[in-house]
Amino acid sequence: MAPVKVTVTGAAGQIGYALLFRIASGQLLGADVPVRLSLLEIPPALKAAEGTAMELDDCAFPLLKGIEITDDAGKAFDGANVALLVGARPRTAGMERGDLLEANGGIFGPQGAAINAHAADDIRVLVVGNPANTNALIAQAAAPDVPAERFTAMTRLDHNRALSQLAAKLEVSVTDISKMTIWGNHSATQYPDLFHTEVGGKIAAELVDEAWLRDTFIPTVAKRGAAIIAARGASSAASAANAAIDHVHDWVNGTPEGDWTSAAIPSDGSYGVPEGLISSFPVVSREGRWEIVQGLSIDSFSRERIDASVQELVEERDAVRALNLI
Ligand code: NAD
Ligand code: LMR
Repeated sequence: MAPVKVTVTGAAGQIGYALLFRIASGQLLGADVPVRLSLLEIPPALKAAEGTAMELDDCAFPLLKGIEITDDAGKAFDGANVALLVGARPRTAGMERGDLLEANGGIFGPQGAAINAHAADDIRVLVVGNPANTNALIAQAAAPDVPAERFTAMTRLDHNRALSQLAAKLEVSVTDISKMTIWGNHSATQYPDLFHTEVGGKIAAELVDEAWLRDTFIPTVAKRGAAIIAARGASSAASAANAAIDHVHDWVNGTPEGDWTSAAIPSDGSYGVPEGLISSFPVVSREGRWEIVQGLSIDSFSRERIDASVQELVEERDAVRALNLI
């Protein structure tokens, strides 16, 4: 079997360090799938990427068939089957939202164009770097020849956080919970929805009191990224890498029967989310494609929260449009 080429941007960063070893060990694609890694970095970080590559060599992973390190996006994405876009411009003091979007446009636009020009026909893209949904939109807009559905953004970490918070509250195992959903943006406006989530055959929202759901569960999940930064002094890394592994693994290999997961994918207009926005939905993966779970009833409590997060995505999209980034 020919190795699958996996390109990781920001490979020398902290998520990269938590991610690469798991890809090389077979956890991304499967225990029998050989991989080639391509590490894309900016010049000052190339040496650190070389150090990580040395450590990858030292693991003697049977599935790892090669590593390349480059600061040239054209090379990095040449023949890529999977692209994990992790490297992004973080918000620094004094930076306005528009500045952040513009700086990221300078990264995700050229990377999208390089994917368009060089990637393999079956390329699948997961954007992790923040603001992930809108960075995915920017990359997608620069890749008109790649099917739009191949551009996705990560809300699996939020999904996993929601599973874990609910399991702790109900004193059950995460494996007892199914049909969790994160809606909207990977930001503090996201909406973790318990109204379709099942625990032992019952609906989770009926097993907890409304005050806990509204005042504890939703904000804890939505603000968990900031809580990790406050506690660790750095943003989540191993858990983000873990979620990226889960997202791509399920995209390629399928989601289990009777359950679904959450991923930010281009909207087809389902649930009133404007077509084309890259927004988180309940999704299943079948035959290598994400499909939005249809037919869920949305009450006014959920509607208001989904709409608020989607509105934020609309504003981000309009801002990058105004900057001519899409
Ligand atoms: P980091 O600062 O440790 O690493 C980022 C790396 O990206 C650096 O090595 C930097 O040199 C590199 N980089 C910058 N510009 C680049 C470019 N143009 N091309 C290639 N590489 C480039 O950051 P991190 O902790 O690894 O986090 C990376 C991103 O992931 C951040 O934007 C963070 O906010 C985001 N994040 C997202 C989620 C999520 O759930 N979606 C969770 C955690 C973190
Ligand atoms: C997270 O959810 O942990 C990150 O997106 C937080 C961040 O701002 O990097």
